[in-house]
Amino acid sequence: MAQIIWSRAAVFVLFILPVLVDARVRHYKFNVVATNVTKLCSTKPIVTVNGQFPGPTLYAREGDTVLVKVVNHVKYNVTIHWHGVRQLRTGWNDGPAYITQCPIQPRQSFVYNFTLTGQRGTLLWHAHILWLRATVHGAIVILPKLGVPYPFPKPDKEEVVVLSEWWKSDVEAMVDQSTKVGLPPNVSDSHTINGHTGPLASCPSLQGGADGYRLQVDSGKTYLLRIINAALNEDLFVKVAGHQLTVVEVDAVYTKPFKTDTILIAPGQTTNALLTTDKRAGTYLITISPFMDVPIPVDNRTTTATLHYNNSLAATALTTTKPPAQNATSIATSYLDSLRSLNSKEYPALVPKTVDHSLFFTIGVGVNPCPSCLNGSRVVGVINNISFVMPTVALLQAHYYNISGIYTADFPGKPIFAYNYSGPGPKNLQTMNGTRLYRLPYNSSVQIILQDTGVISPESHPIHLHGFNFFAVGKGLGNYNPASDPANFNLIDPVERNTMSIPTGGWTAIRFKADNPGVWFLHCHFEVHTTWGLKMAFIVENGKGPDESILPPPRDLPKC
Ligand code: C2O
Repeated sequence: MAQIIWSRAAVFVLFILPVLVDARVRHYKFNVVATNVTKLCSTKPIVTVNGQFPGPTLYAREGDTVLVKVVNHVKYNVTIHWHGVRQLRTGWNDGPAYITQCPIQPRQSFVYNFTLTGQRGTLLWHAHILWLRATVHGAIVILPKLGVPYPFPKPDKEEVVVLSEWWKSDVEAMVDQSTKVGLPPNVSDSHTINGHTGPLASCPSLQGGADGYRLQVDSGKTYLLRIINAALNEDLFVKVAGHQLTVVEVDAVYTKPFKTDTILIAPGQTTNALLTTDKRAGTYLITISPFMDVPIPVDNRTTTATLHYNNSLAATALTTTKPPAQNATSIATSYLDSLRSLNSKEYPALVPKTVDHSLFFTIGVGVNPCPSCLNGSRVVGVINNISFVMPTVALLQAHYYNISGIYTADFPGKPIFAYNYSGPGPKNLQTMNGTRLYRLPYNSSVQIILQDTGVISPESHPIHLHGFNFFAVGKGLGNYNPASDPANFNLIDPVERNTMSIPTGGWTAIRFKADNPGVWFLHCHFEVHTTWGLKMAFIVENGKGPDESILPPPRDLPKC
């Protein structure tokens, strides 16, 4: 008898206990507050989480459950999106305002509760309402399960590097004004690196960048940089003078490692890269500069930081580097062409080989009449010529409770009429408005051709899909050709991510399996385009199996 009890205890300690302690519950509290941030060249308060800019890093391991209590102390409605977290059956916690939840109103709170399943690497969280994500954002670091190594040499140290954009003026007031008159919002006044603007001529208090971000390193070590583009409207090039970077993961999916001297990162994307400090002791310039290969205004300033070897003499010369040209399409293309899924035995690339729903979305802008606007018209963002109208009740609630009159499930799977998409477009390209969704059966395989349009101007758009990762199986310039292009698709090791840029004047083909029931947003991650209506949503129906339905809503889910 005693022996039986002992052996049961042993089984518990040896086998069951480790499983229990392995997956942890992590608690965070996010106070959304107005804060004066001294490292920014301004005395005006910005909206932050816990007074920090960038906000706190959320640390967890794969398999952990994360509970974040968000308390709203500002005058705006707030929601937080856990960008790239799959939210399997927990779409209520995804965060986009009026898509999966009503916002958290001033003086209210909500506890986001989700489990990190099958993902490891770097992601980001950000506000998903108004333009609050300009200052309300931070990193999500998902470490592998205890005892599971990285599929690359273990770094000596890890650093989170958050890139963003900063406006001297009040961002919400600036956007309101531009919406009112129907003109594009101002470009930012600086890029930031971990909240530092770097040298700014217009900001004498920063003393020529003495306060810029400094990455302090030891010689002969390997650092894992967890780079996040939290900017609103800009694709960014990242360079470190004299050093190469080895990309090992993007959007919390491992890649085949490759060396590069320039990283390209679009808003919403994350990139883990190894940096080996094998150069002469000294100081090396880090540059953050925009990529834009058509004449559309961007914040064209280069923000700099320094990589500083410890024990270097203060007087050590700075090794500089020149950022790529703003329109360096070839650097962008060769970087994107190098990205491949790791596709190992442990981390296979599960690319859908067949397609149940073949969709064709034109992505771009259009012009709508606007009598009250400065020019009598305003620019709108469109997918298949439809500019999305935000509902006043969250779509997920409307879907879950069968509330009619909020949306229609008739989003067109292809353009309503055909034209030479990558050309300048027809004379009278009438756009439509609507809250139209596309319905997908559970577990269907979906392919979307994302085709950039040349209306007004072609432009590279970073398209983000909530609730899923997708595989970018193909891309090209000009118009997609359904007869010849699929033959060149990579169905073996295409990059897997949650946000992907369409090449300027070209197309990208993505595939994913609709294995997550709920309502899922798809939009351009340039905030200016989302604001203009470049967005739509999918309804993924419940499956028939036991774990294939969306879970009931949390009790404290905010009301509209
Ligand atoms: Cu990172 Cu819907 O956004």
